This record gives sequence, structure tokens and C-alpha cells, in this order.
Amino acid sequence: MNPPKSLHLIANELTLVERKLLEPDPDRHQAVNGAIAHLFASGGKRLRPTVALLAFRLLQADPCTCGSCQRCEQGISLAAAVEMLHTATLVHDDIIDGALTRRGAPTLNASWSPGATILTGDYLFARAAELATLTGSVVVMRLFSRALMTICNGELHQLLRERHQLLDRAGYLQRIYAKTGALFVLAAEASGVLAEADSETLEALRVFGRELGIAFQIVDDLLDFVGSESQVGKPLGSDLAQGLVTLPAIYFLETSPDDERILNVVRGRRGREATQAALEAVRNSEAIELSEAEARQHAARAEEALLRLPEGDCRQALLDLADYAVNRQS
Ligand code: IPE
Ligand code: IPE
Ligand code: MG
Ligand code: MG
Repeated sequence: MNPPKSLHLIANELTLVERKLLEPDPDRHQAVNGAIAHLFASGGKRLRPTVALLAFRLLQADPCTCGSCQRCEQGISLAAAVEMLHTATLVHDDIIDGALTRRGAPTLNASWSPGATILTGDYLFARAAELATLTGSVVVMRLFSRALMTICNGELHQLLRERHQLLDRAGYLQRIYAKTGALFVLAAEASGVLAEADSETLEALRVFGRELGIAFQIVDDLLDFVGSESQVGKPLGSDLAQGLVTLPAIYFLETSPDDERILNVVRGRRGREATQAALEAVRNSEAIELSEAEARQHAARAEEALLRLPEGDCRQALLDLADYAVNRQS
């Protein structure tokens, strides 16, 4: 499924976001300039800035799209900050996972030392914070900090406690809320703050972001089992191979708790053949459909939350986005 057509609404703003992401800085080491150009040129769906721009426009009584007034600048800076933060988490995530491709291109850690990769990730986090200050809102900056703290906690849980461990669905949902949902919440809620939305609207935005983020990560985890590597642009089959239990494996183990094919791989007895057999077992089970149904359920909750927001083109585009999040192949 291609991204929804309704996104043409924010095409101009997204171009300005791209420009901001690539904005040069004379003091920046040329290696970082190269990394930034590489990371953003290789693609990416830009879902989080899309959420931010649509929510920001949706909540303004008289939205402006000139792209240069103070209000437009605020929205564009927020969207760029969110995408920069996302990209920084990916740079660090790929080094943690030892992943060599992303967005169909080599990762930084595929050719750089761990030190240089980590420092570049740090630079991008700092740049995200700088972009967030351009919104002029301390509340937004605090939301940024809190979101990043939640993401780091989620990633630490995954790394220190949950690798090679069985996990139930409640624990899984907590983990994916933290590592992925929190950033979608930030994109939606911070837009509401900038648009001076009331507390009920902010709550609807938080629910939308959380449910969309959870649906999105379930699909990412599904694609790791059933996706096409050329479409997804990153190595697949890697979660289970690393001892990481995601929703399809959880559903599988709920009906076959003693299945040695899965248990061995989760416990770290890897081997290529054993991993392939475990992946096949999950792929051919009803766990895939159950996980798809769960993703759709969260997307439906995200859509329900949107119905509390003003009707119009932007709301429709966000509804389409929730649909895309669960029907995508990349
Ligand atoms: C990848 O996110 C990381 C996850 C939270 C699953 P995306 O799939 O949005 O990555 P890009 O930005 O489109 O490459
Ligand atoms: C990534 O989750 C979440 C963050 C970057 C915080 P994944 O590990 O599933 O993302 P991919 O599959 O590498 O994109
Ligand atoms: Mg990863
Ligand atoms: Mg993944």
C-alpha cells in the first residue's frame, strides 16, 4: 500500500521540513554533514513529521500555509525536530542491533567505528533539541525530554531484561509503547500544545499517538517475519534471531508453549537453520493473523480518538495514515 494521497495537503510544509533537516552548519564536521545527507537521502516514510504537521494544521481555527510566518516556522521546526530525534534513535538502534542496512542503504555502523557512529547519533539528538527550541515553547521542550527518556527506558528494558526472555502480551505492549508509541505521542501532543489546544483535545491527541505508534510497531514486528527485505529496506528475521520475542512469537507460544523450535532460538541457541525453522513455524501459524488483528484493533482505537477532533481534510488524512500504518508493506 502506498502512502495516502491525502498527504498532498502538507506537501509544501514537508519540503520545508526536509530543508531544515539538511540545513548546513559551517562548524559541523564534514563527516556529520555526510552522515546527515546520507541518512535523509536514503528515504524514510516521514510519518512522525506528517502526524505533527497534520495535527498542527487541524487544530488551528485559521491555519496558515505560507511556510515563513512565525506560526508556520513553529510547526515546521517541531516536525523537523521529531524526525531528527527519530533518526538519532535509529542510528543508535542499528549499532545496538548490529544492523547493516536501513532504508535500503548501508547503516553508519556498517562502515564507521562504534565511537564515530555513537557520537554522530549524539550530535543528531542535540540537533533535535536545538530544533525543538525553535518552537519557542518550554512545554514542548519538556515533552521532548520526557519522550526521549521513555524511549531510552524502553530500549534498555529490551536490551537488559527482555532479550532471551519470554514475555507476555502486556509486557510487550509496554515495551513498544515506550520505544515507539512515545515518539508518536510527542508528535501529536506537542502540535496540540503549540496550537494551544484544550486539555480534552490534548488527551485525544495522546491516545491517537499512542495507539497509532503501537499499531505501527506491531506491523514493524510482523514485517520482520513476513515482509519482503527489498521493500522494507532493512534486514528481516532479525528480532527472533537476536532472542527478541515480539507479538507473532508471543501468540505462537500462547498456543504452543513447549515448541522447542522457538524456545531454543529465544534462549540463544541460534544457528542459521534453527532460526529459519523457528521463523517458518511462526510464519505458517495463525499467530500472524492474530497479530494483524491486534494491529488493526489499535489503529481503530487511534481512529476513534481522532473523531473527538475537528472534522475536515486534515482529520481525514490522519485517519488515512492510521489505515496505512497497518496495511503497509514497507
Ligand atoms: C523504524 O521506523 C523504527 C520503528 C519504530 C519501527 P520507520 O519505519 O518509521 O522508519 P523510517 O523513518 O520510515 O525509515
Ligand atoms: C526501533 O525498533 C525502535 C527505536 C528506534 C527506538 P526496531 O528495532 O524494531 O526498529 P527497526 O526494525 O530496527 O527499524
Ligand atoms: Mg532495530
Ligand atoms: Mg523492527
